[in-house]
Amino acid sequence: MEIKKVVVIGSGTMGSGIAAQLCNANIPVTLLDLKTEISQKAKDKIFSSRPPLLIDKTKIDNIKVGNISDNFDVVGSADWIVEAVVERIDIKHNIYEKIFKKRKQGAIVSSNTSSIPIKILSQNLSNEQKKDFCITHFFNPVRYMGLLEIVKSDNNDLNKINSLKVFCENLLGKGAIICNDTPGFLGNRVGVYAMQVAMTEAFKMKLSIEEADAVFGRPMGIPKTGVFGLYDLIGIDLMADVLKSFIKELPKNDEFQVVAKEIPLIKNLIESGYTGRKGKGGFYRMNKTDGKKILEAINLDTGEYSTSKKIDLKSERVDLKTLINRKDKYGEYAWSVISKIIKYASSLVPGITEKFNDIDEAMRLGFNWSMGPFEMLKEIGVKNFFEKIDNFENNKFLNDLSKSKNENFYGERQLYTDIETLGKIKPKAIKVDKNNSAETYRFKDFNIVEFTTKANTLDYDSMDSLKKATDKPLIIINESMQFSAGVNLTYTMNFADKGDFKSIEKFIKYFQETCKHLKYSKYPVVSAPSGLTLGGGFEVLVQSNFVASHTNIVVGLVETIVGLIPAGGGCKEMLWRWSQTDEAKIDPDFAPLQVFNIIGYAKTATSPVEAEPLKYLKPEDKKIMNRNSLFSISKKILEENKSFNVPNECKFNLSGKPLKEKMIKVLEKLYNERIILDHGMEVGKELANVLSGGNTTIDKTLTEDDLYKLELESFMRLIETKKTQERIKHTLATGKPLVN
Ligand code: NAI
Repeated sequence: MEIKKVVVIGSGTMGSGIAAQLCNANIPVTLLDLKTEISQKAKDKIFSSRPPLLIDKTKIDNIKVGNISDNFDVVGSADWIVEAVVERIDIKHNIYEKIFKKRKQGAIVSSNTSSIPIKILSQNLSNEQKKDFCITHFFNPVRYMGLLEIVKSDNNDLNKINSLKVFCENLLGKGAIICNDTPGFLGNRVGVYAMQVAMTEAFKMKLSIEEADAVFGRPMGIPKTGVFGLYDLIGIDLMADVLKSFIKELPKNDEFQVVAKEIPLIKNLIESGYTGRKGKGGFYRMNKTDGKKILEAINLDTGEYSTSKKIDLKSERVDLKTLINRKDKYGEYAWSVISKIIKYASSLVPGITEKFNDIDEAMRLGFNWSMGPFEMLKEIGVKNFFEKIDNFENNKFLNDLSKSKNENFYGERQLYTDIETLGKIKPKAIKVDKNNSAETYRFKDFNIVEFTTKANTLDYDSMDSLKKATDKPLIIINESMQFSAGVNLTYTMNFADKGDFKSIEKFIKYFQETCKHLKYSKYPVVSAPSGLTLGGGFEVLVQSNFVASHTNIVVGLVETIVGLIPAGGGCKEMLWRWSQTDEAKIDPDFAPLQVFNIIGYAKTATSPVEAEPLKYLKPEDKKIMNRNSLFSISKKILEENKSFNVPNECKFNLSGKPLKEKMIKVLEKLYNERIILDHGMEVGKELANVLSGGNTTIDKTLTEDDLYKLELESFMRLIETKKTQERIKHTLATGKPLVN
């Protein structure tokens, strides 16, 4: 069965997201709603969404719009009809009746419901119709969330379900997990339970919301929104509805019921319009005092707000064993929450799925956890877990495990997909090196480097791993969300605060040396980015020999924002790329001026399609919808380049002073318009110095090392200024740029 045309009914949050992802896959889709104005508005919103739902805005007309009265005929030509209307069974039933009257014989019909069981959705359908009906539960935002739960019933034609899965994997890039018809399926059943446990335990143990979010966050491999931050993000009212549905659908003795009870404080919040970020605020709120925005947090006891306090657990990395063994309230809270999640998730096996593995994957893809509950159990260790746990009656999985004590109970990972993923390969590979910032694996005849720091920021150790790993062909890839957010600014500032600029210089030199080594070592190097690929992260990518990029990347050289310039070869490589254009052959200043503009404005691209015109990516770089495929495609690149030719060194002829003057003219205009201030001018001048070639003339040929040297000198002059340091500190504290 081939899916060539799709109709999505309901153009709200989810319908729009699904239509946009189909558009990204180049599949023509019609978006229908009650009125064409509604679906047209949805299309306009897709076009201007932030973060962008579209990979390539010029493709927007893959999406047609219409209404269900005048344009319903399109259903007749669709291979797949997705229903994404409001969560009301009467409305859904009505629509199915219309769809099944019109649909092409054999076309798939699916619902995006998050809570209505398939048996209820399909109760009015004939057995023949039920064959082609399933639930396709996407997560919001559809482009960015990896999980798609395909819920099947006993009536389904399994071949068809499988071909839908393959379509959604390959073309829509989803991690598609086929599940049974149980309330909340896999992701929400465990994910919402986990949130409720994290919340109710915080109340019980009298933790502040900041404390709970600090524990139920990065230290546990969970996104930093934690639980209360996530509640605010989803909407406190929406969460209340979700809980009501779980209470209704689940048996009375399900452990979920214990943590889903209504909490008076939450009822009050909803009633007074504190529904989260979309409302007046939620557990957190922004308050303006004396014109200044201040983040406030609620006190769970009194319901009063006060200035939010940053909690420092002094542990930046995921380390469950240390966390649960801490002799303080944080350790106690962590153990209480983690053990309950493990107990609950394991009690659902084999009821909701035979493969416990799928629950972990649903938590990774649907909630962005770095480990699911069973991986947490593996990480803690079976023996340790059973020494600490109190009771686990009626839990077959834990009972069996407590007897077998099998530390290797986990087996293979990512069973839901046939793709050879990084996650599947890592347990089979040999870990040949590990430091504080990266791990190196040897698989077959090549190496894999995975960064392991927060947002994969780079430091001396990251470079050390990369450099050592070039003794074989190399793939730089990772499972966590970001490829790399750039150089670790905290690491750099720690030296700057001590006035130890020598160490910063040593690090930047090593960074350059490593990147040069990546480019010219005798073995090919492939970078496989996904997510943030900024600053130093981009410099690693741009000096790799090949790139296999996920379609969800945010890529660019953003150093000027923090008062620096790219010094790991970013200026040099961008100059080289732009100097290969036809325009550059005629005008020697063309390339430097273009790059001055791109780096000066810290331009970023939010997809490979946007990255190409900026030359952050090349046309021949691979662009891949399914993140799971990054590894196998990178591996294929290595296989195809066994007899790899080391690239030739780049040479540069730059105009020097007259070019620099042109750039300074641009800066002066911006300065006069107050778009940049004093320090912006200084940063711009340093960038101009590098890109014009410093003290050179057009007839002199500069080498890559000359350019590295210019980058380093400018970088060092800037990092030593107070104003650059102020910018860095401000960005580290607030996540926002400082204009000074
Ligand atoms: P929404 O409220 O944003 O959009 C629903 C859309 O359906 C509206 O545009 C409405 O005008 C339209 N609609 C209502 N009756 C209709 C009819 N008879 N014919 C055509 N269109 C009609 O809802 P949202 O959030 O997009 O949810 C849609 C479905 O997806 C629901 O079943 C929901 O449970 C599910 N879901 C929602 C998620 C979320 O995060 N919002 C996540 C996963 C699933």
